Amino acid sequence: MENNKIIIANWKMNPVSSKEAESLFSSLKKEIKNIKDIETVICPPFIYLANFLKSKTKNLKLGSQNCFWENQGAYTGEISPLMLKNLGVEYIIIGHSEQRNYSGETDEMIAKKIKAVIENGLTPVLCVGETLEQKKNELAKKIIEKQLEQGLFLISNSKIIVAYEPVWAIGTGNDCQPEEASEMIRFIKYLLNSKFHILNSRVIYGGSVDSKDIADYLKYPEIEGALVGGASLGIEEFKKIINEASKSIKTKSASK
Ligand code: PGA
Repeated sequence: MENNKIIIANWKMNPVSSKEAESLFSSLKKEIKNIKDIETVICPPFIYLANFLKSKTKNLKLGSQNCFWENQGAYTGEISPLMLKNLGVEYIIIGHSEQRNYSGETDEMIAKKIKAVIENGLTPVLCVGETLEQKKNELAKKIIEKQLEQGLFLISNSKIIVAYEPVWAIGTGNDCQPEEASEMIRFIKYLLNSKFHILNSRVIYGGSVDSKDIADYLKYPEIEGALVGGASLGIEEFKKIINEASKSIKTKSASK
């Protein structure tokens, strides 16, 4: 599997015009063009993807925030993984808690989407995470195991990314402490390897990550990257995140 850490920017439903989106993307590209040791993936809303394709590079890739599970047909309003592949997208976020909450996405739908993404040769970024109530009731590990089991039900050993995104940490500024995130990520890796026999995976953390704490997460070798929402929308802040991530890798290799 790749050794570099990966930072995935989830723009969610922002910004509201293609002019703003293009200016954000091109400034970002300029700012991080010399950082080669971090793989950066931008996941804008679908409608902006085509405009960014000519600008993608080896270290600046494109992802989408969702897709449907069929490649084409009478599915009004949907976008297929094959369309995204043909466009040049490499990663697809699946099962984000906002899709689960606001669009009623179920584990069954998620499993079909994961399978379709893999069959198209793209990499799914499967999001899993417990709610605050589940955490308080000490159900976090059980929930994560169930989400993995149901989400990965239709695939066997394939290249995937799992994002541990505790729902209570998303967009709240109330991030999960790096130590706690690393413990859950070790548990996820253990399940992926020993229970689901998925050996080609990366596990990353998401939930209120910013430039002040990115290095604290990445210093744990098992945390292989981050999914960044709100903080990926500001050029200065996101540039700092990528710089901090790169610095943390260099510090680690220097201390070997
Ligand atoms: P946040 O979002 O960084 O704004 O908490 C993360 C995500 O939802 O992927």
